[in-house]
Amino acid sequence: MADQTSNRMWGGRFAAGPDAIMEAINASIGFDRRLAAQDIAGSRAHAAMLAATGIISDSDAEAIDKGLVAVLAEIESGNFAFSTALEDIHMNVEARLKEIIGEPAGRLHTARSRNDQVATDFRLWVREQLDAAGEGLEALMRALLAQAEAGADWVMPGFTHLQTAQPVTWGHHMMAYVEMFGRDLSRVRDARARMNECPLGAAALAGTSFPIDREMTAQALGFDRPCANSLDAVSDRDFALEFLSVASICAMHLSRLAEELVIWSSAQFRFVTLSDRFSTGSSIMPQKKNPDAAELIRAKIGRIFGANTALMMVMKGLPLAYSKDMQEDKEQVFDAADNLMLALAAMEGMVHDMTANRDSLAAAAGSGFSTATDLADWLVRVLGLPFREAHHITGALVAMAERRGCDLPDLSLDEMRSVHPGITDDVYNVLGVENSVNSRMSLGGTAPAQVRAQIERWKAKIG
Ligand code: ARG
Repeated sequence: MADQTSNRMWGGRFAAGPDAIMEAINASIGFDRRLAAQDIAGSRAHAAMLAATGIISDSDAEAIDKGLVAVLAEIESGNFAFSTALEDIHMNVEARLKEIIGEPAGRLHTARSRNDQVATDFRLWVREQLDAAGEGLEALMRALLAQAEAGADWVMPGFTHLQTAQPVTWGHHMMAYVEMFGRDLSRVRDARARMNECPLGAAALAGTSFPIDREMTAQALGFDRPCANSLDAVSDRDFALEFLSVASICAMHLSRLAEELVIWSSAQFRFVTLSDRFSTGSSIMPQKKNPDAAELIRAKIGRIFGANTALMMVMKGLPLAYSKDMQEDKEQVFDAADNLMLALAAMEGMVHDMTANRDSLAAAAGSGFSTATDLADWLVRVLGLPFREAHHITGALVAMAERRGCDLPDLSLDEMRSVHPGITDDVYNVLGVENSVNSRMSLGGTAPAQVRAQIERWKAKIG
């Protein structure tokens, strides 16, 4: 049998302490201790409000506040003896408060329940994570912007199906990721704005008969307003699910960039060189420099999306209002948040440190008949051919170059004319990769001037 301490909170109704296995399945202190700072902030706001509304005396509120500050100091210094018998962070804090200040501690829980307490704590915690994710995203975007700026006009192959498609610029490719992470940033901000309502004062589920001031606590904790419906306030975990959804999409983006870095840093590509700080060696193959950080970032989507799915399944079908199922929300969010922050920081470090190999990029840019579309466009523009016919003629020229084992610009004018007699010397002007990228001046296109415009727009937004 476990000890009897946990019955102190509801001892009136219970004769015996919980079975050890009951205690083990019930306790959340092993992980929700991470909510200590938020729990104490919530309690301080609540106690101040109870005094301001005359529900408890000023002297009790003062004692409670001092005591809570002392408890937090103990927890932060690592000198706090967490008790499993006390189940969760809320009861651990309250029990210790009682030891420190005595009788007034018992008044703190007036007009409150652990249901609105945990919902408040967890919102505060998730809100901090959204802010941290926003900062991590901005740092990563700045690193990508710096790369884009350095190589706004460096040519490289653009791919579809991972087959050479058309030449693009390095800056353009970097800025594609800035767009993705920019959307993540806006999702982070949307989620934060929507979740910033305070559950405190919803009490167990129905509200309270005490004359509390929910605006006051909401404001003290930095919320925009109190949650409007007490049943919803204690049973809503959308804010956690939105965080996990935003984190999942962001982790998916990270995994795509990570995959490109793995490919690009290979000996076959050599598009980028990763710094030693973000690479590892092999214990047996001396030549190896492995992109482990990129591989691990690529994998993080697995656990983050897993957390999203897990919490969605926990919440599915739960009747109103609070059910203990909801205690299962925390570990998923903690793990996802830790790993998202780590992945963002590691990606920022890798992108910041990596060197794009301009020559390898340029050499690859011209291979694989990457300017075939430019040739077809020339046939349309200069000779007035329908695009379908131009496509066909270009295909024949590509096949000819392939047979000869050369690139398109290496075909002689006579060879070209054997396929279409109207072709002139002018065609060679569009077959070079530089010309190709410079010509793609359409809005959002790969021309360096367009890329620089994108860079300027983002720099103005995130500095
Ligand atoms: N540890 C609980 C949780 O994380 C706190 C709320 C408990 N409420 C209750 N009525 N048992 O959800």
